[in-house]
Amino acid sequence: MTQTIKTQSRSRSQQWFERARRSLVEGVNSPSRGPAVYTAGPILLERGQGSHVWDADGNEYIDFMMSFGALIQGHAHPTLVKTVSEAMAEGSHFAAATSAEIEAAERFRRMVPSAEAVRFTNTGSEATMLALRLARAHTGRRKFLKFEGHYHGWYDPFLLNAHSHPPEQLGPVENPARIPDSAGIPNSTFDDVVIAPWNDVKTLERVLRQHGHELAAVITEPIMANMGCILPRDGYLQRLRELTRECGALLILDEVVTGFRYAPGGCQEYYGVSPDLSTFGKALGAGFPVGAVGGPRSILDRMQWGENMVLHYGTFNGHRLTMKVIAANLDMLTANTYLELHTVGNCAVAGLREVFRRHEIKAIVQGFGPMFQIYFTDREAICDYRDYCKYVDAKRYSQFVHRLLELGVYMTPSNGLHWIISTAHTLADVAALVEAADQACSGLA
Ligand SMILES: Cc1ncc(COP(=O)(O)O)c(C=O)c1O
Repeated sequence: MTQTIKTQSRSRSQQWFERARRSLVEGVNSPSRGPAVYTAGPILLERGQGSHVWDADGNEYIDFMMSFGALIQGHAHPTLVKTVSEAMAEGSHFAAATSAEIEAAERFRRMVPSAEAVRFTNTGSEATMLALRLARAHTGRRKFLKFEGHYHGWYDPFLLNAHSHPPEQLGPVENPARIPDSAGIPNSTFDDVVIAPWNDVKTLERVLRQHGHELAAVITEPIMANMGCILPRDGYLQRLRELTRECGALLILDEVVTGFRYAPGGCQEYYGVSPDLSTFGKALGAGFPVGAVGGPRSILDRMQWGENMVLHYGTFNGHRLTMKVIAANLDMLTANTYLELHTVGNCAVAGLREVFRRHEIKAIVQGFGPMFQIYFTDREAICDYRDYCKYVDAKRYSQFVHRLLELGVYMTPSNGLHWIISTAHTLADVAALVEAADQACSGLA
């Protein structure tokens, strides 16, 4: 039998949290890390190695959150530690041309065939912002389509219908209610946004018949990763590709979560869909802040200096340490890596499904391989945003994960996120997770 790890005291985390609240809003730098999600208070993490992390009280956890997917190689991978230490000794960043950015870009292009060129940014949010600006400049059109429940970073025009809401607030499928995700954004910002439900070809055909001619772009996550893990229906992405081509709107595939995770070339390779532009982040930087936009030269070259150029500046673009990490990270991502990520992840999915079956708990595990999510629901599948809002018991999930946090499994209690498998995870980690899940299920309300 596998040994689960029992969490002891969290007193140091609590003390730090009290102190943090005096200087930081909610004691953190992003609400997803704070008391809104961790109802017992945030756990202050101090150290990570491989697939494990340790908190301020010395409690050890197997980490399945992995910095929201950034840590494809786990924590403190020795190759990356060496890469960063050596590079740092020569100077962190020059904001000048470097061989590091060329080596990173060459590897990126080798892995992402739709990218004749790449532009590095510092975050996924900057990448999607840039992709939209490029699309507008390239097509000469203003509007764009985003789907309900998709998150593309915190740039103003993307912040519509990206959070879950009670079903009665969603409006009809044919004419969804438009719900801003943030205060401080002028309503006029959303005048250029067409919003539509995802994963339904008939709806897509109708919306694009009506709006296709005026759209600069349609932006989509290939797997909906901000309502947990919702897979595209068979043929949906392919049909989206055909329709966007027909109406002259660019297809922006937001692979910030899925990039370098499902296949060397991300979901575009996995599902065989070739976008006009794609955006990356997270796993690309293996824990260092980065984003990227890849695409054909005909679009990316619009950033060349001159009249009517698309402006993209940034002191930290192509940060030298990050570029070194990217090159080393991508060199480690071989075909075999993906076989292992899928094998380990599929074992976790199967093990968790079996636990819920045994406990006769109505829960499904959706997704596969490197990314998946648990939904407490009566449904057999969660297929879109509205399913998520109507049928998923996110409170029960939070309760379940809080129990796991007591049993040595580190995961965010937010149901909108997803479980991540990195190259550091082993079948032993999966066995420990399954055993902890088994214990967490006993007595679950
Ligand atoms: C699909 C998607 N796009 C873009 C972003 C924004 O990336 P970042 O948090 O690096 O700004 C995220 C972040 O979670 C994301 O999930």
